[in-house]
Amino acid sequence: MSAEEVGDILCFFINGKKVTEDHADPETTLLSFLREKLRLTGTKYGCGGGGCGACTVMVSRYQPATKTIIHYSANACLLPLCQLHGAAVTTVEGIGSTKTRIHPVQERIAKAHGSQCGFCTPGMVMSMFTLLRNKPQPSMEDITQSLAGNLCRCTGYRPIIDGCRTFCQEANCCQSNGAKDCCLNGEGNTDEPEHGEPQLFDKEKFLPLDPTQDLIFPPELILMAETANPQTLTFRGERMSWVSPVSLDELVQLKTSNPKAPLVMGNTNIGPDIKFKGILHPLIISPARVTELFQITQTPQGVWVGAGCSLTEVRSLLEKLVPQFPEEKTELFRALIQQLGNLGSQQIRNVASLGGNIMSAYPNSDLNPVLAAGNCKVSVISKAGGRRELPLNHDFFVSFGKTILKPEEIVVSVFIPFTIKGEFVRAFRQAPRKESSFSTVTTGMRVLFSEGSRVVQDVSIYFGGMGPTTVSATKTCASIITRPWDEETLSRAYDVLLDELVLPPSAPGGMVEFRRSLTLSFLFKFNLEVLQKLREMTVITDGLPEKTQIQALPREIQHSLQEFQHVSEGQSDQDPVGRPIMHRSAISQATGEAVYCDDMPHTDGELFLALVTSSRAHAKIKGMDVSEALRLPGVVDVITTEDIPGMKTRPMFGYEEELLAQNEVSCVGQMVCAVVADTRAHAKRGAAAVKIEYEDLPDPVFTQEEAIKKSSYFEPRRMIEQGNVTEAFKTVDQVHEGEFQMGGQEHFYMETQSMLVVPVGEEREFNAYVSTQWPAGIQEVIAQTLGIPSNRVTCHVKRVGGAFGGKVVKTGILAGITSVAAWKTNRAVRCVLERGEDMLITGGRHPVLAKYKVGFMNDGRIVAADIQYYANAGNAVDESVLVAEKILLHIDNAYNIPNLRGRAAACRTNLPSNTAFRGFGVPQSLVVVENMVNDVAMALGRPADQIREINMYKGPSITHYKFEFSPENMHRCWDECKVKSDYSARRKAVDQFNQQNRWKKRGIAIIPIKYGIAFAESFLNQAAALVHIYKDGSVLVTHGGTEMGQGIHTKMQQVASRELHIPTSKIYISETSTSTVPNTCPSAASFGTDANGMAVKDACETLYQRLEPIRQKDPKGSWESWVMAAFFEKISLSATGFYRGPDLYMDWDKMEGKPYAYFTFGACCCEVELDCLTGDYRTLRTDIVVDIGRSVNPSVDIGQIEGAFMQGLGLYTMEELKFSPTGVLYTRGPSQYKIPAVCDVPLRFNVYLLSDSYNPHAIYSSKGIGEPVLFLGSSVFFAIKDAVAAARSDSALVGPFSLDSPATPERACLACASPLTQKIPASKPGSFKP
Ligand SMILES: Cc1cc2nc3c(=O)[nH]c(=O)nc-3n(C[C@H](O)[C@H](O)[C@H](O)COP(=O)(O)OP(=O)(O)OC[C@H]3O[C@@H](n4cnc5c(N)ncnc54)[C@H](O)[C@@H]3O)c2cc1C
Ligand code: FES
Ligand code: FES
Repeated sequence: MSAEEVGDILCFFINGKKVTEDHADPETTLLSFLREKLRLTGTKYGCGGGGCGACTVMVSRYQPATKTIIHYSANACLLPLCQLHGAAVTTVEGIGSTKTRIHPVQERIAKAHGSQCGFCTPGMVMSMFTLLRNKPQPSMEDITQSLAGNLCRCTGYRPIIDGCRTFCQEANCCQSNGAKDCCLNGEGNTDEPEHGEPQLFDKEKFLPLDPTQDLIFPPELILMAETANPQTLTFRGERMSWVSPVSLDELVQLKTSNPKAPLVMGNTNIGPDIKFKGILHPLIISPARVTELFQITQTPQGVWVGAGCSLTEVRSLLEKLVPQFPEEKTELFRALIQQLGNLGSQQIRNVASLGGNIMSAYPNSDLNPVLAAGNCKVSVISKAGGRRELPLNHDFFVSFGKTILKPEEIVVSVFIPFTIKGEFVRAFRQAPRKESSFSTVTTGMRVLFSEGSRVVQDVSIYFGGMGPTTVSATKTCASIITRPWDEETLSRAYDVLLDELVLPPSAPGGMVEFRRSLTLSFLFKFNLEVLQKLREMTVITDGLPEKTQIQALPREIQHSLQEFQHVSEGQSDQDPVGRPIMHRSAISQATGEAVYCDDMPHTDGELFLALVTSSRAHAKIKGMDVSEALRLPGVVDVITTEDIPGMKTRPMFGYEEELLAQNEVSCVGQMVCAVVADTRAHAKRGAAAVKIEYEDLPDPVFTQEEAIKKSSYFEPRRMIEQGNVTEAFKTVDQVHEGEFQMGGQEHFYMETQSMLVVPVGEEREFNAYVSTQWPAGIQEVIAQTLGIPSNRVTCHVKRVGGAFGGKVVKTGILAGITSVAAWKTNRAVRCVLERGEDMLITGGRHPVLAKYKVGFMNDGRIVAADIQYYANAGNAVDESVLVAEKILLHIDNAYNIPNLRGRAAACRTNLPSNTAFRGFGVPQSLVVVENMVNDVAMALGRPADQIREINMYKGPSITHYKFEFSPENMHRCWDECKVKSDYSARRKAVDQFNQQNRWKKRGIAIIPIKYGIAFAESFLNQAAALVHIYKDGSVLVTHGGTEMGQGIHTKMQQVASRELHIPTSKIYISETSTSTVPNTCPSAASFGTDANGMAVKDACETLYQRLEPIRQKDPKGSWESWVMAAFFEKISLSATGFYRGPDLYMDWDKMEGKPYAYFTFGACCCEVELDCLTGDYRTLRTDIVVDIGRSVNPSVDIGQIEGAFMQGLGLYTMEELKFSPTGVLYTRGPSQYKIPAVCDVPLRFNVYLLSDSYNPHAIYSSKGIGEPVLFLGSSVFFAIKDAVAAARSDSALVGPFSLDSPATPERACLACASPLTQKIPASKPGSFKP
């Protein structure tokens, strides 16, 4: 092979070590190289598309021109390995480890309880580490900006922010960075915890930040960069080549010869296209070393910025220039800075280039509308055309992803002009999430006034998100130009704009009315800002009424309170129960040493499995052609249902779910077959090559409405009634009927479904390493699928990177399929779903349609209610019937409604089957009930909290299923929440704010919860444990619960420590496995600690008693000496423990039972501020009071509360699954599906654990807490609804109105029914295909 064919040697550094690759494949990303080649598995795979931040690393480069080293965070999943020549990469392993010493960032995030499942933690650590590398004393704004692109599904972010806050020395950061008395002694924040109150962590003990710990930049790379004659580099892979020229001439030449080859800079457009759309580019040109593309030239008219500059560099450049010039010259610069601050995430902006953003010509590019409105231009070069300059205007952006440039033309630089006196430029954007999210609509607007007048000399308005590319509102501009900027002109302009930018009802991206209304809102906002400017310039003198002024929503995160009780005075110092002990793996998680399923080393001959899923919602499988797949390199086999040696289906509630479809498919995403190959990439290519022929079957059912029409249900449907509802309706003063639609929710655990099944090689034995909540369930599925006894299958679970109910049933089916592949090939088989596959295949929370009728008296008493729920179960029954039952068991929530009827049905549809999700139907059930109570309040024109109070259970109470309980602690939570949140005063303040503001409204809501704990299926209320004491005194605890971030292992360690009277440091928990503790129940229903805690306690008590005679003999001995003595006295140092839980049941025929062991109570008050023009909102403050008895571990429990609340906030206000009319899930990754990020954390987020509460039904008087608080996230929904109601009343709309969940900006904005949105004609449902 010639040198040319072989390619050059890629040279870079990772964690201070030189890496040379002589076969660098351009298709390899840094992430796969780190994880698969170097086995640096601390950097995680969460989405592969730059949307989650789990893969964040720091890249450092030497810049010869300035002789400086720059450091920036980047997403390793988007970084092509070949791009790294000459760079130094730092991963989480490079900054600290438990073997050497940990870095302060790792320590502080861990000790502040910022790591639960830990899967996001290395990414968080690296974002924060990079920030500190560049700015050792960051501001809070810096911190939140740098974490904006890192998603966490467990913690609710508050503890991560608090850990990072300790590096910040702003006045509002108390005792920051070890500096005492930062603000506690000042006038201060009255919300700071008082001295003597227990704290979740002790800042005083943190390691100081010591930059000398950081790796130095490799001198060899400096030498390399200083080399006078850099050479063109070429790298060749299996399917792609990569050329990195060093001069502009060479680049031009290359592009001329290969016009179709993309220029890859940040790879943030090309990378996702390759990965998600399967686009193959045989050649990639990397201009990253062509210095002309990075030049900055200032002229009297403006500044030329090299097209290769990253967006971060562009922003810093503009920020540097702004103070150097008079304000009037930098209008455009400032609009761009604002837009750049919100575009993508820090990691994306650090690599994405200016030229790349322009040339990607995204329909919703945030920069292009501003660049175009601001009269920017580009300088391009090509061999044939030489250099030319082109304006960035409506002619430049041709269509989706296309510009006017010829394929061989290269953008060298971009000219950003100064503005002149009388010229104003503004940018606005509205996105599904405030940060790290493509905009729904984005705009750049510029107006130039004739000197000293309000007459418009020039105006340009461009929008993104309103067509296939950046569009100009040319006619609107024409209607404004030469006219005075006044009411009349603007009013005409709105109408012209409305006519000009029409979107067909079926426009890609949907949200047509909202997008159209945003164009008007932005013009309206621009108008207000321009008027303000004209007023400042005294061109106009009329005052702007305060009501119409708009400011940005508040964003400053404040201190939060976490209040919990001290342990009792007599408790021994060594006894950890009741103390805020850090998650036992938090440090390993923060250093990247914690091992998740896909971090396990590959075994010899291991294969990877990729699934082939149905592309049809309802069809017959006519044929399957796997021949092409089998011919592809690396493909070993294709697994179909024929290959399953045992049970081919999973039975549930009398229905059968096929592991792999045989004759028919009933949803898009149903698994049909699987391809196994030597590598991940080969398996995926193989799966893509399988051809399936379908014949569509008629009438697929997608929605609950369709299911109702066709009576398509999974039986049994359930009904429950107390009193006589029909009769009661005849006696009430008023009756109100309503309907509520609630969307589903994707689990979005950060670690996707992962498993490794290894044949042991003899006697049909298998080891399965699975990320699951239910190891025994996996063991059973594998045994039944392979037709072997359970004793041949061991399932091991070390830890789970988040689960939330999604890793029970669905994981079993995937494990069954993977085990068949391991069986057939007799090799270890690994299956790790891509994020998109996971979202497509595994279903989530059930969407619910509810219809209700409520009868009430004029004094607010609700006398009768009849609620009918329809849950969309999808194509398989899964646990849907149980979900429907749990919905009905909670329809009373906190209220004693004497005549109450509920009916629930699980609708069978042709969507992917839904499954368990934290709360298991309760969040759907209760939001409907609370919405109904809200309607009553609105109908009566009374505050909702009053109606809630009037109807709450009081005194000894009995539920609608005849279960006796005391609501006392529920009232205590409610009352305390009102006091702590200062509800009454804030209610008044909110009303006052609303009177003073027309376009921004505040809303406040307080919501109670009563949540039943334990399984109504009695047999599930059991647990077992196995405890070994070794001769050296160390203790190994095993129990049936799986560690998925909820801290169960930490709590079990605390239990064992108390019972054995030894410190937790002597106790270890390695994993959960079916060979140590058999027949376990899933870790679910908030019952893990209750059940397993008792089992661990039981085992430890046995052991402690066994040691009693030894202790008696030698009371002065040590634990170690007693253990050794016991060994010599032949006393067993191993014991099992067992917990037989309560006998619970529900008799649906009699409509009564005791389905719960007890209730967890809580209340939550939230206040939001809503921008009525865009629907954007911010949660200003949240106060949650929860009764969890006596917490075993307050930090873990508060973590569960905050995490569940944020997941609920996501459910009710942000997270929206979107399907095509043919049942194809559109939302398959973090780019399309928005879970809450740092920007969504309430600005003040207080949690109080109710004091003096005891619970005789659970270990150490604690209560289950995993699920209940999720529903309290709905208080944000109801606060938004309250704000919307205030906006509606300004439009003279009063009384109940409907707002479905999630209350996205789209829904909230349209519900406000402002005069602007009322201009938009609604598309008739059914008249178009969405
Ligand atoms: C997670 C994520 C979030 C994002 N969020 C936003 C957002 O909120 N707002 C927004 O506007 N954008 C957003 N983006 C898009 C991002 O800004 C663009 O992908 C990026 O700017 C493209 O630059 P790049 O250097 O990465 O391009 P590359 O992917 O490297 O290249 C993109 C294209 O541009 C061409 N190209 C690049 N440079 C030149 C040049 N000098 N001359 C000619 N052609 C060239 C290439 O040939 C290629 O076709 C997001 C992207 C991701 C992945
Ligand atoms: S894995 Fe890279 S951002 Fe999600
Ligand atoms: S701790 Fe952040 S995703 Fe689990």
